[in-house]
Amino acid sequence: MSIQIRDIEAGYVAGVPILKGVGVTVEDRSIVTVLGPNGSGKSTLLKSIMGFVSIWRGEVAVDGELVTRVPPHERTLAHSLGYVPQLDNVFGPLSVHENLEIGGARLSRSERRARTRELLRLYPRLEERSRARADSLSGGERQMLAIARALMTRPRHLLLDEPSAGLSPAAVEQLFGMLAEIREREDVTILVVEQNAAQSLAVSDRGLVMVTGEVALDGDAPTLLDDQRVSELYLGGVPDATPATASRGA
Ligand SMILES: Nc1ncnc2c1ncn2[C@@H]1O[C@H](COP(=O)(O)OP(=O)(O)O)[C@@H](O)[C@H]1O
Ligand SMILES: [Mg+2]
Repeated sequence: MSIQIRDIEAGYVAGVPILKGVGVTVEDRSIVTVLGPNGSGKSTLLKSIMGFVSIWRGEVAVDGELVTRVPPHERTLAHSLGYVPQLDNVFGPLSVHENLEIGGARLSRSERRARTRELLRLYPRLEERSRARADSLSGGERQMLAIARALMTRPRHLLLDEPSAGLSPAAVEQLFGMLAEIREREDVTILVVEQNAAQSLAVSDRGLVMVTGEVALDGDAPTLLDDQRVSELYLGGVPDATPATASRGA
């Protein structure tokens, strides 16, 4: 259930590396947050695990097996990976129910039905709207659907690209609650790219900060929350956003 990324170089155009020697270990059943400015290579990191971008150097192992041995279109099943991209992660014209079924397209009919029912029971908000078009959902419901769809095949690893982007504060809170609860219930390892540093680190074990294709900082979540550089970049320069350093009456 672990993901090991060892010194990878990857990019879209020959001679233009976007990831320049990135190393990350995601331990079994941990949640790891990836922070970093726009364009620093966070999405590319997730895509390199999925095989949507080619790795030129280094390697990625999932549960100790090299992903590069498996063609990209088979990786999801072969390595038990669930991936929720940053944009266009649901089929808008299709219903909630249909979106879930598509997520389970490779399951047998009976498994697909059972899993769809199970996930709708777990997410009552989706169940209420199960016949509604996905593009009629609120942002929070849509992300919930995108994640639930990725869970259809019971992946042991979940890769999420900025799931809280554009959500209301209440929906953001609900989303991180959902992640923490998924880890417990599904026994899954989660690598999540986020801009909401404080909330994401709060449910994470570790975090890292990418800058121009390299890992600039890497540490356990409480340490990163306390780190001056992280708080300046992501927490509006308010180090007392964490209980550990909170000062009363400020
Ligand atoms: N499909 C693509 N083709 C060429 N360059 C790309 C492509 N996708 C992303 N890039 C470039 O790779 C760099 C990193 O992008 P990305 O991984 O999306 O960053 P982040 O997710 O951290 O914002 C950017 O300079 C971006 O322009
Ligand atoms: Mg991105």
